[in-house]
Amino acid sequence: MITKPDSPLRVLLLGGTTEAAALARALADDKRLAATLSLAGRTANPVASPLPVRIGGFGGVDGLSAYLAHARIDLVIDATHPFAARMSANAISAAAAVGIPLLAIERPPWTRTGGDDWIEYDSIEAAIAGLPAAPQNVFSALGRQAIPALSKAPQHRYLIRVVDASDAPANLPHATMIAARGPFRAEDDIELFSRHGIRHVLAKNAGGNAAYAKIEAARKLGIKVHMVRRPAIAARETVTSVEAALAWITRHHQLRSERGV
Ligand SMILES: NC(=O)c1ccc[n+]([C@@H]2O[C@H](COP(=O)([O-])OP(=O)(O)OC[C@H]3O[C@@H](n4cnc5c(N)ncnc54)[C@H](OP(=O)(O)O)[C@@H]3O)[C@@H](O)[C@H]2O)c1
Repeated sequence: MITKPDSPLRVLLLGGTTEAAALARALADDKRLAATLSLAGRTANPVASPLPVRIGGFGGVDGLSAYLAHARIDLVIDATHPFAARMSANAISAAAAVGIPLLAIERPPWTRTGGDDWIEYDSIEAAIAGLPAAPQNVFSALGRQAIPALSKAPQHRYLIRVVDASDAPANLPHATMIAARGPFRAEDDIELFSRHGIRHVLAKNAGGNAAYAKIEAARKLGIKVHMVRRPAIAARETVTSVEAALAWITRHHQLRSERGV
């Protein structure tokens, strides 16, 4: 017998990506669910969300486990960035500790196509060390957290794209900061790279469409891309799209209805 559960299914959505924002929009009006979006709090003005939002770290695996138990979360959706490996690892451990299902939305990584000139590295530090020793015009899409690593090669003329505007750090005397939020367009990045005479692009293999413009622009302009491979994340259930995540949530809602809890 199918019994309607009394309370909505409680979903914790770990965000900070375009997929998380899209899933938040899709979940907002679903009366079967009570979803909360969690953000790390890295950006000053996060994209407005129709879901209730909580901001800031949980305090490691123990903090997240306590949150999941206290908020009586039924499902965790990890829609964090592929490079947010610590949060993803913590989510796997905490969901297992409290015994609830976890699903990750994992975009396929970008792959090299004809005309791409890539060198791949296992870390941000290795990618920066892979730049030529002589000063170069370098576009960095590595994000704000990589700025200390850039200072290991301060001779380059960096163009550093970040979400929130800020001054260039003093230890990067030839750096220029630009503040912009994706999605980006290839024609705009072609214009940007041409204007700044960019010869090298530092990038993380994020996958997805929102940040692919720089890869397309580099291909069109014959620019070398120093590509950081993704960090490894333990085995977990994954899907590659927001639609598939919605289907997974619906399936869990049906399962719970059938159990009558
Ligand atoms: N890394 C990137 O390139 C990148 C790019 C675009 C967007 N983002 C987004 O920016 C956020 C931080 O990325 P990161 O690389 O710094 O992550 P990280 O290194 O994996 O996480 C470091 C710590 O930040 C907290 N945290 C991370 N994501 C959180 C979330 N969604 N909600 C609450 N706390 C969170 C956790 O603190 P506690 O241990 O205290 O819980 C986590 O242990 C993520 O939400 C990610 O989706 C990252």
